[in-house]
Amino acid sequence: MTKRITAILVGLGILVLAVFLIYAWEPSIPEQEPPSPGDFSEAMIEQGRALAGIGNCQSCHTVDPERPLAGGRPFPTDFGTLYSTNITPDPATGIGTWSREAFHRGMRQGVARNGAHLFPAFPYTHYTLVRDEDLDALYAYLMTREPVNAEPPDNQLRFPFNVRLLQAGWKLLFFEEERYQPEDARPELWNRGAYLAQGLGHCSACHTPRNKFGAERTDLAYEGAVIDNWYAPALNTDSRAPVAWTEASLYDYLRSGGSTYHGVAVGSMADVVHRGLGEAENRDIRALASYFSAMAEPGSDEQARQTATATIQSAQRRTADTLGYGEKVFTYACASCHYNDPDNPRALRPDLSLNTALRADNPMNLIRVTLEGVGNEEGLPGVVMPGFAELSNADISALLHFLRATHTDRPAWDNLEDEIERQRQKVATNTESEQ
Ligand code: HEC
Ligand code: HEC
Ligand code: HEC
Repeated sequence: MTKRITAILVGLGILVLAVFLIYAWEPSIPEQEPPSPGDFSEAMIEQGRALAGIGNCQSCHTVDPERPLAGGRPFPTDFGTLYSTNITPDPATGIGTWSREAFHRGMRQGVARNGAHLFPAFPYTHYTLVRDEDLDALYAYLMTREPVNAEPPDNQLRFPFNVRLLQAGWKLLFFEEERYQPEDARPELWNRGAYLAQGLGHCSACHTPRNKFGAERTDLAYEGAVIDNWYAPALNTDSRAPVAWTEASLYDYLRSGGSTYHGVAVGSMADVVHRGLGEAENRDIRALASYFSAMAEPGSDEQARQTATATIQSAQRRTADTLGYGEKVFTYACASCHYNDPDNPRALRPDLSLNTALRADNPMNLIRVTLEGVGNEEGLPGVVMPGFAELSNADISALLHFLRATHTDRPAWDNLEDEIERQRQKVATNTESEQ
């Protein structure tokens, strides 16, 4: 009897495995000669350039700016380190032999030309929404780049995470291939914004928390998440921005890197704004602003101005009541730049009471900006902020407690000093690896 049950179970196991293998198996698409530049119109290539920016291909596929798109950027995960691939048209090490069909399948199903499943660190889960014409323009752009012969380092993933076939199981659970479907009840501009944000722009890839398998939690869409040691804040009704984001302020922020009543774009968001969206048309930035402003139910621009004034005034009132050590640090290190006239707040001297980083549940962005400053490639063009790594952990902790207590109405942060030390270590290793 037990023998028979064992035999049935083994049989069933083999059957399930066979069905999975049939499901998981993807054919290799034959190699082709790399297309020649004359195959694509100039207009198509230019459209592809803007789309590649919106999709942020550069950021993830470039390590050395001299060798754009040649891959090799490390992606540390809980399962080991993965490296981005070479997507220049080099036939030996890049995607030169990929046909249009292979490229479309890669972008929409996360399957390489040779049939191997790709890992979702490559955001094909978003790119699947992209229309045919736009993928064709991207293909035209990539195939007309300078081919770079460069093999990315081998992935360092632990068994069984290195078995690409198992990615088919991940897809079964967390991925659906689909194209963007416009919502007829919404205006055209909103739909354009939704198409760009959910598809190529993959905004939720950073702004949405993930489950333990690395898939985005759709039930917590745009609730804010930590990614690559930056905190990408909530963009939905949970936004902690003291002044609600309006379409106009989102437009300014996404176009220039800052907006009058908010902070500036630093860290990975600076990359999105300055490298990624830099070549996008004004209309597409407007579309993104329309989509995200509708998500957070903002008020009018006049309300925004009034809230900003009131917020700065209450910070000034609260500051007048305290005179602790934190305020001394602030006066010595920050106040020479970060003061503001409540009736005329200016983005060039961002008023810290208007900054999401001070009100966020996670202090990491504020700590990083305090330690590292704001570089030339970040925030608004033409302005920088020095870093204050020479302050002690105790000084910074007192300073940030003071700012939190006076410039916001949020509860105090826990364990600030530990988090400051953790960030200090990370900043030190980052600077070493860049040299
Ligand atoms: C968030 C980082 C990220 C972004 C943004 C990104 N990629 Fe990738 N991409 C990766 C990683 C990592 C891999 C390697 C995945 C693997 O090995 O399974 C990859 C792989 C690929 C591949 C497969 C290449 C091969 O040889 O197998 C293609 C094609 C590709 N990306 C194209 C693009 C294009 C086009 C864009 C912009 C629209 C883009 N990627 C944006 C991270 C990214
Ligand atoms: C690679 C990760 C990443 C991607 C992709 C990304 N963001 Fe961000 N975003 C961040 C981080 C990190 C911050 C915090 C920056 C700071 O504090 O200056 C941020 C901040 C923002 C803010 C400011 C929020 C506030 O209250 O201060 C807005 C608005 C925003 N992102 C919109 C977008 C949009 C729109 C997209 C898609 C086009 C996008 N982001 C894609 C990482 C990302
Ligand atoms: C020399 C002038 C100067 C000093 C001193 C200074 N800052 Fe700044 N800070 C700036 C400027 C300018 C920006 C905007 C940079 C940009 O847009 O590129 C900025 C931006 C910021 C931001 C916004 C980051 C974001 O994500 O929106 C924070 C937070 C901040 N500073 C905190 C501090 C703190 C805390 C101190 C004191 C330890 C300090 N700053 C000292 C000039 C200064």
